[in-house]
Order: sequence, then structure tokens, then C-alpha cells
Amino acid sequence: MLAQRKPSELDKVEAIAELARLAEILNAANTDYHTHDAPKLSDAEYDDLKRRNAEIEALFPDLKRDDSPSLKVGAPISSAFSKVEHSVRMLSLGNAFTDEDVTEFAARIRKYLGLRNTDSVAFTAEPKIDGLSLALRYENGTLVQAATRGDGQTGENVTLNARTISDVPHHIKDAPAVVEVRGEVYMSHADFDALNAAQEAKGGKTFANPRNAAAGSLRQINPEITKERPLLFFAYAWGELSEPLAETQFDAIERLKSFGFSTNPLTRRHETVSSMLAHYQEIESQRATLGYDIDGVVYKVDDLTLQSRLGFRATTPRWAIAHKFPAELAYTTLESIEIQVGRTGAMSPVARLKPVTVGGVVVSNATLHNADYIAGVDSKGAPIREGRDLREGDWVEIYRAGDVIPKVRDVDITKRAATSVPYTFPKTCPECGSDVVREEGDSVAYCSGGLICPAQAVEKLKHFVSRSAFDIDGLGAKQIEMFFADVDLPIKEPADIFTLQARDAANPLAKLKNRNGFGDTSVDNLFSAINEKRTIALNRLIFALGIRHVGETSGALLARHYSSWTNFFDAMTAAKDKSGPAWDDLNDIDGVGSVMAGALVDAFHTDSTRKAIERLIAELDVQDVVAPDTSGSDVAGKTVVFTGTLEKMTRAEAKSRAEALGAKVSGSVSGKTDLLVAGPGAGSKAKKAQSLGVKIISEDDWLVLIET
Ligand code: IVH
Repeated sequence: MLAQRKPSELDKVEAIAELARLAEILNAANTDYHTHDAPKLSDAEYDDLKRRNAEIEALFPDLKRDDSPSLKVGAPISSAFSKVEHSVRMLSLGNAFTDEDVTEFAARIRKYLGLRNTDSVAFTAEPKIDGLSLALRYENGTLVQAATRGDGQTGENVTLNARTISDVPHHIKDAPAVVEVRGEVYMSHADFDALNAAQEAKGGKTFANPRNAAAGSLRQINPEITKERPLLFFAYAWGELSEPLAETQFDAIERLKSFGFSTNPLTRRHETVSSMLAHYQEIESQRATLGYDIDGVVYKVDDLTLQSRLGFRATTPRWAIAHKFPAELAYTTLESIEIQVGRTGAMSPVARLKPVTVGGVVVSNATLHNADYIAGVDSKGAPIREGRDLREGDWVEIYRAGDVIPKVRDVDITKRAATSVPYTFPKTCPECGSDVVREEGDSVAYCSGGLICPAQAVEKLKHFVSRSAFDIDGLGAKQIEMFFADVDLPIKEPADIFTLQARDAANPLAKLKNRNGFGDTSVDNLFSAINEKRTIALNRLIFALGIRHVGETSGALLARHYSSWTNFFDAMTAAKDKSGPAWDDLNDIDGVGSVMAGALVDAFHTDSTRKAIERLIAELDVQDVVAPDTSGSDVAGKTVVFTGTLEKMTRAEAKSRAEALGAKVSGSVSGKTDLLVAGPGAGSKAKKAQSLGVKIISEDDWLVLIET
């Protein structure tokens, strides 16, 4: 359903889910294309999804994921770290979902080994930790290298970062000359909560879940940052060894423990499938109280000779399997339905739930998407939940998958009270009382209050200071909420940020430096951070205004087109009637559609918004866009496509340099393409270019071309 919706129709919660879906598809496609050289998506399908991802990110810049496909050069390995070839491949695990799957797994093993059904094979069972795997190489007892899994064959060299993890010994004793210890880097729930709270307090990036936080923390370019992050490590496997660690899996883990590694205390050895399954139940029952995320139980054949006889399939060992926990479901009462108003006025209904544990996490809120979702119909009017509507007081089924925000999946209407009434979506905004408008064909209802709506105003301010907008150090979402509610030094609109220092100076009684949490230094730092941003690039300013449908990319397009604030402002003013040359010119910009154009013109002709913009501009020095000097460039005006792995620069860098020289960079090869720059692993795009007679050059040729 989300897949069919336009990016501009998504609310924040939907955007999170959709970015997660796109990341999964695109990242898998990258691996298929670059690693396996076997694309499963056509170029057009790939490009469409990538474009959709970029559009959603432009509309919701603070939702950009750590693993965003827009950050990927193509291959799954980041160019920020050097590469490590794994001498023994790092594999993943096959999955079992039911008790029968586990029984079959054990039977398959006996069959493969030519054992009778009555012969017993021992297994170890241990929690499957939800983190990221890490390989630690020790030579003569000293840690010499740490690498992430990457694509299994090649990982990233994160040695300096791994050395900062307290669970990773720098030296080990009585170990073989070469030992590669493998295990999982993870973050505890308590550390995760504290990290997010600290990040939020300083206006930094927060993480969706402990796994993302662990991955984001390990893969920091600056190991000093990793050092500040409370990462932990469980050892559970090994790679290259100069001599065996033990004869059984269980003893090998004990040996790793004797080297000083943390190993999971719930690891146990079993002789029968029924005792493995009982252990699974036991681990699952402890899941909520372990203090870290696990997503199943891993069974491994205990006898290492049998393990090596069993060997591997393409990507998974035959001797191990992950028994996953079932989808995370729970039942609870939907106590009330509340409406949250976002920065563009979009009204998102939220279910307030009687708190319930879903997959180890206490859930008290869930998204309800929009009025139709509550009524039991999708955006095309077709029934969902077989048409059952949701009402306050209902007994509902809650669903949580991975890091996706909890959802209300279904309702048990047999438990519905006879007195219950259908939910009516508000006709006026609960925050400001303005009329609610919902346009034909739009699933989202909007508050029409604009800046007079406090909810919109505060969300707009948070957007204004966000990373891709004004990015003011020390002024994050939390501080905005504080200042918005402040009586002495309020910030109610963007201009107030820039008058804060003068108002503080003029007010001897309520000085900011005397407040809790502030002091001389932090106030000085805040004021200088604010003053630094008085000079601002036009594209950032346009994006920061938070006009509906105008994301980061559109901000840049508009800035390039109008080149100065005065030109832009005059054009928006002149386009008032949504007709005439200024309106046509706006609509002619490649990438600006009539919906965005309409939203822009509406914003500049809503009296309160226009005045607030004028007050802001009076405080700023907006930089003009300087057109790149493309004279003498061989690629000016040419349409260029990059494909395959670039080795000398990232894809983003290649694109921005090409554009600076006046080239147009496209994601797909067509009859309009002038040049294809193909790195190793170039696949279908190179074939298509060949068939169309498009000139194909290497990355080195490209560098020669642009540097001469
Ligand atoms: S054993 C050859 N044991 O799960 C197989 N993996 O889905 C080596 N994982 O990439 C892996 N806990 O990152 C193993 N106790 C555990 C694990 C575990 C988490 C991860 C690991 C692996 C992934 C496979």
C-alpha cells in the first residue's frame, strides 16, 4: 500500500516504514549488482526506487537512515574504511521458524552424515544476538586487525574502532599463533537509551534501535567517537586458526572465554531436539529481561569434526541454523486516539495503548496512519481488516517488526462494548481550532492554521534548525521545545532565534546564563553558533522554510534557478494568481511540479507566513548561488552516467564534480546519454550503452578528461 503512495502524501511514520522498505530492496539490489554481478531489478526499476528514496529523504531529511541507499556508492563496502579480504568467508545462517523446521534440520544432518535415526548428534544452543558481526585477528597473542562482515568476502577495516571496545582484549594468552575470533558487537538497552537521550540533548542524531546504534557507532570514521559509545561484544565463532581451539563447539567457546572474551551465559549443550526446543522456550521467556536485543536461538553441531564433514552451502553452513522468534504480536486495549499535528499541518492519528510488551519492548503508542486506516479502508477505498473500523476502547492486535514503529494490525470486534461508537476524525485542529481540510484524493488531512497553530510552529522550528537546514549547534529539537514555551525569552518563529541574544542583553532580570542547564560558556557558544548561521546558502534557506513538498533537493533546484533571495522572493510574489510568466517559469523548472509550485505560492501569499519570512530575512545575509565556471570544460552540457564501482572517488563526489563542470548526471542510460563512465562490476548499464552506441570510458579516462 505504501509503495503506491506519492512521497508527498506520506506522513512521518509512513516515511520511516517506506525508507526502511526501500533501503532493504535497494541495498539487496546493490549486492546483487555489484557483488554477485547478477542484477534482479531492471535499471529502470532500480532508478525509480532510488529516486523515490531520494524524494522521501528530501521531504524528511532527519529520517535519513544510517544505511540509506543514497549514501551507497554501489558496492556494500564503505569507501571510508580500507578493505579487508576475509581469509575464511563470513557467512550467514539458514532460518528455522517452527519446531518442525528444527526437527527437520537435525534429521537432514543425520542423513547427510549417514547416521541412523536413532543415532544422537549433540548441538549447542545460544541466543542469536541482534547486532553486527566482527572478526578480530590475533597474531602471536596481539590484536592486529578487526573487520566487519561486509559482503562476507570483503569487510571494512575497523581495527582502531574495535580497540576501543571494552570487551575486546588487545592481547590474549595461551592462544594459537593465528586466531581470528568472531562474534557480535551490540549495545545494551540501558546504554542505548542513555545514548539517545544524550544525542537528543545536544541536538545530535538519535538511533532507531540498539542494532543501528551499534553499527553506527562501530563504523565511525573517528575512533574517538566510537570510544565514547558503550559497545559490547560476545564471541561465538572463529575464522582462520593456525591450530584447532578444541574438539567441540562448546569447548571452543570455553577456550575463547579463557582468552578473556565475553561469551553468552545462556550457551548450553543438548543431546536431543526436545531439549533444544525447551531451551529455546526458556531463552524466549527471558528475552524481555536480558537487557539486549536477541532475535532467535542458534543451534550448532557440537562435534567440530562433524561440522567440517557437513561443510557449507553457498552462503550458509549445513551444521548450524537460526531458530527465529515469531513475529512480534500482542493484544491490548486502544485507550484513545490522539491527533498529532506535524510541521506542514499534516494530522497523524496515534493510538494510545494500555502498555504491553511486544517482542521485549514496552509499547504504549502505535501509528494509525490516517482517517481511512481507522475507518478500515485503504487509499483506494478497498477494505482493510475486512472493513473493521477501530474505536476507542477496542481490543486490538499490535505488531512490531524490526525497528518499524508499532502498528495496530487488527481488532477483535467480539470484545467490543455495545456502547462503543465509531471514531470521528476531528473537523477542527485539536491544537489551534482551525478548520481541517482534506483534499480530494489525498489520504492526509491538514490543519489550515499555518503559523498560528502552535504544533505546526514548533515542528517548523525544529525543522528549521535541523541538520540539513540551519544546523545550529546546541539548538536541537529539545531546546526548541524549551524556548517555544519560554515566557521571558520565547522563540516562536525563526526570526526569534536571531534576536535571542539582543533580547537576552536587554533583559537584566531573566538572563539565559542563570538558567538551569546553561552557564556563561554554553550561552556564549549558543549565541556564536546562531550568529555563524546568519550567513546562509540560498538552498538551505529555502529548504529550512519548511514549505510543504519542498525538500532538500527541491531547495537546491530552486536556488540554482533563481540564484538570489531577491529573485526568488519576487518571483513567488509575482506568481500570486498561479498564472502568468512567473508561475509558468516556476512550473518549467525540471523537478518542480504543479503541487509544489502551488504550495510555494500559497506560502508566500499567506499573510502570517509571508511576514514571518520577511522578519527572518531581515536578520540574515543570504548568499547568492554562483554559477559554476564551465568555460573550457569538455563535459559542459553533456549527459553523463556513472556505473560500476568507482575507485578514486565516491559516486556523490563524482556527481558533484561533473555537475560543477556543467554536465548533467543521470542515473540511467538512454538515447540522451553522451558518456558512460564504467568502473569494475559495470553490468546492464554498460551493455545498454554499448547497444545504443554510447561512448564508454573508464574512471581514469574520466579523470583525465575533467582534469585537462
Ligand atoms: S554463528 C557460520 N552465532 O547472525 C555462521 N551468528 O544471520 C557463523 N549472529 O552473521 C555465525 N548471534 O552476525 C552465530 N550466536 C550467534 C549469533 C550469530 C548473532 C549473527 C551473525 C551472523 C548472523 C546470521
